[in-house]
Amino acid sequence: MSIANSGITNAVVPVAGLGTRMLPATKSQPKEMLPVGKRPVVQYVIEELDRNNFQRVLFITGANKYSIENHFDPDPVLTRHLRETGKEELLEELEFERSQLHFFYTRQKTQRGLGDAILHAEEFSGTQPFAVALGDSILGRNSQSRALSHMAELFTTQKCAAVVAFEEVPLEDVSQYGIAAADKMPAPGEQFVVRDIVEKPTRDEAPSQLAVAARYIFGPQIFPALHHTAPGKGGEIQLTDAIRALVHNGEKVLGVRLPQSDTRYDIGNFEDYFKTFVEFALFDEKYGPALRQHVRQLLEQENA
Ligand code: G1P
Repeated sequence: MSIANSGITNAVVPVAGLGTRMLPATKSQPKEMLPVGKRPVVQYVIEELDRNNFQRVLFITGANKYSIENHFDPDPVLTRHLRETGKEELLEELEFERSQLHFFYTRQKTQRGLGDAILHAEEFSGTQPFAVALGDSILGRNSQSRALSHMAELFTTQKCAAVVAFEEVPLEDVSQYGIAAADKMPAPGEQFVVRDIVEKPTRDEAPSQLAVAARYIFGPQIFPALHHTAPGKGGEIQLTDAIRALVHNGEKVLGVRLPQSDTRYDIGNFEDYFKTFVEFALFDEKYGPALRQHVRQLLEQENA
């Protein structure tokens, strides 16, 4: 079943975070615009939403995020210049500008957390269910992930209040994520009932190693839950705490453990950003083979 059958056409992409973990690269540009291979991170996210047949995208932006809006605006001057100077092959690189998605933008004026950012989508989505795709995380290497379609289908057929994507993380990393309690560890690709969820627990508090992986589907019930959510970890309104309230109110919240083909690439810290960049560049059709050679030589020199 495609997502068109689930009827979920709205997606929300929060891009308001300050990106302080990636200074100085993010001093004057959004972390979502950092390149991974040839494209900025957020372009992969939008291509994923497009391939999963969403129609309307609301960006929750903040200070210093204008370049995201510029990136998704068609640029007729640039297009004409490329055509007139015979650089037709570069026009293909701007193919994404022709996506049928309708973009909307709203601004989170103060940094009050991810939960507060999602509250800015209340008017946009009204009583309709919607997807959330965090703008600093890529799913799968070529924006081919169908995870959101699958989650939307589950949401509709199983009458959920929320469906959340998860991945298994090492124990030492649980304190960076929202962590779920499940009856047992699901296999990759499998769904499970979320029994509880805790934002950034210590190792000892963590109910499992199942970490929220940057993709969600919500019904409108999330908004009253968010309105009632007090500041949590870091003094911020946490989306995870509102999901927890849904679970505690007896609402149906399902988790989906991402299949291996849908690896989540986190661009929120340098270690993961470097790994992701190298991986995507090594697999680039045009530049990958020469880069592999270069990296091999570098490693050989280091081992000599
Ligand atoms: C946010 C969420 C967290 C989630 C993570 C990755 O944290 O609060 O629950 O696990 O995204 O999807 P952040 O990376 O913004 O600190």
